[in-house]
Amino acid sequence: MTATKGLEGIVAATSSISSINDGVLAYRGINIDELAECASYEETAYLLWYGKLPTKSQLLTLQEQLSEYAAVPQEILEQMKLFPTDANTMAVLRTTVSALALYDETANDISRESNQKKSIKLQSQIPTLIAAFARIREGKEPVAPLKGVSIAHNFLYMLTGEEPDEVAIRALDQALVLHADHELNASTFSARVTIATLSDIYSGVTSALGTLKGPLHGGANEAVMQMLSEIGTLEQVEPYIQNKLNNRDKIMGFGHRVYKNGDPRAKHLQKMSYQLSQLKNDSTLYDISVKVEELVTGQKGLRPNVDFYSASVYTLLEIPRDLFTPIFAISRLSGWTAHILEQLDDNRIIRPRAEYTGANNQQYIPIELR
Ligand code: ACO
Repeated sequence: MTATKGLEGIVAATSSISSINDGVLAYRGINIDELAECASYEETAYLLWYGKLPTKSQLLTLQEQLSEYAAVPQEILEQMKLFPTDANTMAVLRTTVSALALYDETANDISRESNQKKSIKLQSQIPTLIAAFARIREGKEPVAPLKGVSIAHNFLYMLTGEEPDEVAIRALDQALVLHADHELNASTFSARVTIATLSDIYSGVTSALGTLKGPLHGGANEAVMQMLSEIGTLEQVEPYIQNKLNNRDKIMGFGHRVYKNGDPRAKHLQKMSYQLSQLKNDSTLYDISVKVEELVTGQKGLRPNVDFYSASVYTLLEIPRDLFTPIFAISRLSGWTAHILEQLDDNRIIRPRAEYTGANNQQYIPIELR
């Protein structure tokens, strides 16, 4: 038995949800480029869950369900008020999603019908949890979700209590489409491993949230913004990046396990970052990002991944940095839950082997002789 570090190149499941072939990402066979231009996030989530695009009436029903479920139990909002105000936002999300199970009497029902309903419920409640904590830590009351608006619209509204503008809604909606699913990425794999023991959907999503949090995965978008802030000016890009490259430090937002010739999602986020910076009449952040890309791609051959330009997009939307990874979670929730449903449709526990590298033939030594 020989282990493959990081399971690189190992095909660990079959799936009909999303595919990556020759650098092209598709959800249910539809190229992500097309979905990014034409589909709303709600249509995309429907596509991932049910395998096909919704009709008008199916989309309307989904939107009504999302509106119906968006409120979260008051008890959880009260608990949030006891959390440290500087708590890590992904830890808050992981904890409160886990707590949602305590207030759902169907939490342990793993039938497809119940899990499908809970997927929609979680999709709707996660933005409410994130926005509520963002306000509570500032001593403000949470804003109740609106009815009959999109997830992107509702999230931006719940953060500030003010109507967001159309450009911001469209930009966030498109970012949600682009992050919704990605084959057997680390957090989706976690969700599948958890659910394959026949555990419940809240446990599956809680596992996935813990995995997404890390800076080698979803946490990279916040690390990118940290780096761009440290750089600060266009003149500082070269010395800063050169120093990192000389020290063989990782440059966040670059590289990918699967895409070696570029992440197909990055160009959409770059375009969005450019458009938002034009609208704001301030292209500093965009210009710094482009210069970083020039240097890192030029010297290391590494291309930006989905996290690189999403950092400037969210900053231009005036979203606090520590909400970037939670926003990734809002989007990936549809992918995680689609994979949970798929795993349970044809389940077998996921239990690989390890290549043992420790000592053999050791003897037990009584404690007094050690
Ligand atoms: N900056 C500098 N060097 C890098 C980077 C980077 N961002 N990414 C890879 N490399 C180098 C490694 O140092 C390594 O070089 P070496 O062979 O000389 O030691 C080589 O490229 C291979 O890199 P690995 O880390 O082994 O590649 P792996 O496939 O295991 O990791 C990963 C992929 C985690 C995405 C990696 O590229 C990385 O750490 N990137 C930065 C973090 C990041 O942006 N994560 C988000 C990924 S997308 C997502 O999850 C949504």
